[in-house]
Amino acid sequence: MPSFGNGRRVAIVAGVRTPFARAGTVLRSLSAIDLGKLCVAELIQRTNLRGTEVEALVFGTVVPNVVAPNIAREVALMPLLPKGVQAFSVSRACASANQAITDAADQIALGHCDVAIAGGAESLSNIPVLHSKGFAEALVQASRAKSLQGRIKALTKIRPKDFVPITPAIAEPTTGETMGQSAEKMAKLNDIARVDQDEFALRSHRLAAAGTHDGRLTAEIMPVWVPPKFDTVATSDNGIREDSTLEKLATLPPVFDRKYGSVTAGNSSPLTDGGAAVLLMSEERAKSLGYTPLGFIKSYAYAALDPGEQLLQAPVLAAPVALQRAGLTLDDLDLVEMHEAFAAQVLSNLQGFESLAWAKRAGFDRPVGKVDRAKLNVMGGSIAIGHPFGATGARITTTLLNELGRRSGRYGMMTVCAAGGLGFAMIVERDV
Ligand SMILES: CC(C)(COP(=O)(O)OP(=O)(O)OC[C@H]1O[C@@H](n2cnc3c(N)ncnc32)[C@H](O)[C@@H]1OP(=O)(O)O)[C@@H](O)C(=O)NCCC(=O)NCCS
Repeated sequence: MPSFGNGRRVAIVAGVRTPFARAGTVLRSLSAIDLGKLCVAELIQRTNLRGTEVEALVFGTVVPNVVAPNIAREVALMPLLPKGVQAFSVSRACASANQAITDAADQIALGHCDVAIAGGAESLSNIPVLHSKGFAEALVQASRAKSLQGRIKALTKIRPKDFVPITPAIAEPTTGETMGQSAEKMAKLNDIARVDQDEFALRSHRLAAAGTHDGRLTAEIMPVWVPPKFDTVATSDNGIREDSTLEKLATLPPVFDRKYGSVTAGNSSPLTDGGAAVLLMSEERAKSLGYTPLGFIKSYAYAALDPGEQLLQAPVLAAPVALQRAGLTLDDLDLVEMHEAFAAQVLSNLQGFESLAWAKRAGFDRPVGKVDRAKLNVMGGSIAIGHPFGATGARITTTLLNELGRRSGRYGMMTVCAAGGLGFAMIVERDV
């Protein structure tokens, strides 16, 4: 199997992100576009990169701004970059930044460009609130009416129920099931006990707190001066709960199945604002510009399953394909970074890796295997750090590569589950 890029290796040179903040808190006055601009500007400055070197910018977001839907182009139109940087936006739910990174990597591997920035941003504090269909139709008719009488007639068609606004739900359009309900279903189908979910969540907070205190996580985070007054600065993630205990977690009520459920606010990722970006280059260009890459993309794979089944289980189908494409097995990996939408999903995914039935579904005759917990999410994950949907994939990429370097490791794998029953896995490699 040829390695990704057919000999043209794609380097990840650097990555940076904004702090991740619980929605409605410190970053609430910044749009996803603002957050994207901030982290891309920081990436360019930290790497001392001339803007004229950048040829493409690919960005992901899940809840786009309806008046500026191509977030990538809006981010690219910043003073540090020339106007000729071509830019496009992608959406693959929670794996959107991964999609941005692999799209940029594909362009480099194809030889279409040598330097690209990829990432994503999300502001769940600023989701669009839409008019109902009845209200919108009346407004359109009124604006088209040729007389005042016609306008009034159109507006009189509005009924009280038409005033109820529509907000995007974190629910599957095909099944109506929310992410939380899906996690609940997976906990039941896979026998994931409440205490195991809470223990995993606690681990996420403890490890993220340690990574923040010793500077490993903080080093990946840019300070953000908070508008409108700019008199405070956010420097770290504000969802990490150092004071969390197993006892406290056990008292939290289930949110998505109040009677029989086990998924709580404590063992779910919170709604979050943030942005993250990485700098990609062809190996040759990185060398000629004098950069030492954090690592290289060895392989990647996407997969999908029926959203009505186990919505967040598709990483189990993507991971063996990515490993096969890299010519590696789980034992070869020094680190595994798994997006934590819910503890129930992480534990279901890990169980799926050990299952022959899931291996067969992915087309393999042996399971991926048991992930060594000492190699898994060693600085916590989305449960503690937070999960701005469009940005998470770039955060994980940066964290994985930086930690791989600190450990002098060679191979790392990341996985991300996403709405629509989608899953992603990528293998990265360091030259050792
Ligand atoms: C689960 C969810 C509904 C909880 O939202 P919320 O109620 O606003 O959550 P809060 O942060 O207010 O937490 C609720 C309570 O639990 C407590 N709590 C949460 N995490 C805790 C922890 N780790 N330790 C101790 N207490 C914790 C809070 O302190 C709060 O207590 P209070 O009511 O006494 O103040 C929301 O985070 C959510 O929708 N998450 C899922 C997002 C999603 O679907 N993402 C897609 C995944 S791909």
